Amino acid sequence: MSRVNPYEPIKAVIREVIEETPTIKTFRLELDEPMEFATGQFIQLTVPGVGECPFTPSSKPGKSRNMDVTVMKVGTATEVLHRKTSGDMLAVRGPYGNGFPLDFLKNKELLIVGGGCGMAPLRSLLYEIIENKQDYPSVSFLYGCRTPEDILYKGSFPEWKKEIDFERTVDKASEEWKESEGVVTKLFENVKVNLKKCVAVIVGPPVMMKFATMELEKKGVSDDRIIVSLEKNMTCGFGKCRHCLCGPYYVCKDGPVFFYKDVKDLPDVWD
Ligand SMILES: Cc1cc2nc3c(=O)[nH]c(=O)nc-3n(C[C@H](O)[C@H](O)[C@H](O)COP(=O)(O)OP(=O)(O)OC[C@H]3O[C@@H](n4cnc5c(N)ncnc54)[C@H](O)[C@@H]3O)c2cc1C
Ligand code: FES
Repeated sequence: MSRVNPYEPIKAVIREVIEETPTIKTFRLELDEPMEFATGQFIQLTVPGVGECPFTPSSKPGKSRNMDVTVMKVGTATEVLHRKTSGDMLAVRGPYGNGFPLDFLKNKELLIVGGGCGMAPLRSLLYEIIENKQDYPSVSFLYGCRTPEDILYKGSFPEWKKEIDFERTVDKASEEWKESEGVVTKLFENVKVNLKKCVAVIVGPPVMMKFATMELEKKGVSDDRIIVSLEKNMTCGFGKCRHCLCGPYYVCKDGPVFFYKDVKDLPDVWD
């Protein structure tokens, strides 16, 4: 439904809260009316009495009254949100932004690189890829975070691993950890896709995206084949308030997903 007041949100009730890690929870929401989003688009979530925050839904893209948002506790609003439980009311407006360029990604060799909470938007991309496997014949997914307990969606990993090449690494391993130890760029050494041809999608904390893009360029992935999703301060979400400006771009409207070639020389790209 198009709304007269673009700031008017849709009410949403929390149906379930999943504790993913000590600092990250997934909120399973049921909206008063369906919302259609494309993978990589974001919404503005109202935390009543506190304000709004942008989050990228981590659930399957499409039109639905159900939506998952996976939220890391970092400050005022997210701390209040982390205290919410089943039955509590929130509100959602959007979706905003461009999302991942699926037409460009289809039938290419894909290297998807996630770091920490960057796995949230990538889960919705994974759902799209797995559901339309014929369009994405060759996918390598690399995911890194600090420790084994910081890994998101642990329960889904065996299922995903059956569908695509999926490798994980942690900065600091525990005794039980049997997979790779080291930063995510370490996994570039044995990646299955051809780096001279593939398209890379990178989502994670700015420092991880900075080093991953640099490393991929060194390995021959050109900047017009690297895609990043940027996080900037956002208020309106649709190109009116200018809070999200990054060089000539409104990250809310022109992004948050960009080809690296278009943003790599902007001084504040990773700020
Ligand atoms: C398009 C877009 C999509 C996003 N998607 C997600 C998502 O799916 N899941 C998610 O958890 N977050 C996501 N974020 C980040 C999220 O919006 C912020 O973490 C949130 O707004 C912080 O609100 P706060 O009031 O809790 O923090 P504040 O009180 O505003 O900030 C507290 C402190 O945390 C720092 N901070 C703010 N954001 C971050 C961050 N992302 N990482 C680390 N430190 C931060 C601030 O600089 C400040 O020092 C997204 C941001 C954008 C722009
Ligand atoms: S968030 Fe207002 S212009 Fe981008």
